[in-house]
Amino acid sequence: MNFLSGKAYLIGVSIAKERRGQGLGTLLMQTSLQALQQENIAEVELSVTPENKGAIKVYAGKLGFVAKDTKIDEYGPVENRLVMMLSLDNLT
Ligand SMILES: CC(C)(COP(=O)(O)OP(=O)(O)OC[C@H]1O[C@@H](n2cnc3c(N)ncnc32)[C@H](O)[C@@H]1OP(=O)(O)O)[C@@H](O)C(=O)NCCC(=O)NCCS
Repeated sequence: MNFLSGKAYLIGVSIAKERRGQGLGTLLMQTSLQALQQENIAEVELSVTPENKGAIKVYAGKLGFVAKDTKIDEYGPVENRLVMMLSLDNLT
């Protein structure tokens, strides 16, 4: 993660292939977000490929991230990124 004036940018998260779908990604994110909240980080932003439905399910469905923007061709032609953010005020 990168920190900049009360905001953290999540660069990447990955769970070993054979351990996916067991709740570990959600747990890792929840633990990380709680740690950031304790460091007085107010907002977390990340970007994800719009086709990555599994990750979006975790970010939006489990953690409460909301879609903020779509960046077209961010990483080259047809490499769009969905920008998502979470206010840590809303962290349960
Ligand atoms: C995205 C990722 C970190 C999620 O970690 P995880 O441990 O598999 O996630 P969880 O087990 O906590 O899953 C939470 C929910 O999402 C669902 N889910 C997870 N991955 C999914 C997938 N690929 N497709 C569909 N649903 C998926 C689970 O079924 C679960 O839902 P449920 O509780 O209603 O059954 C993991 O799949 C991963 O490492 N993916 C490859 C790397 C990646 O894409 N990272 C994100 C880059 S921005």
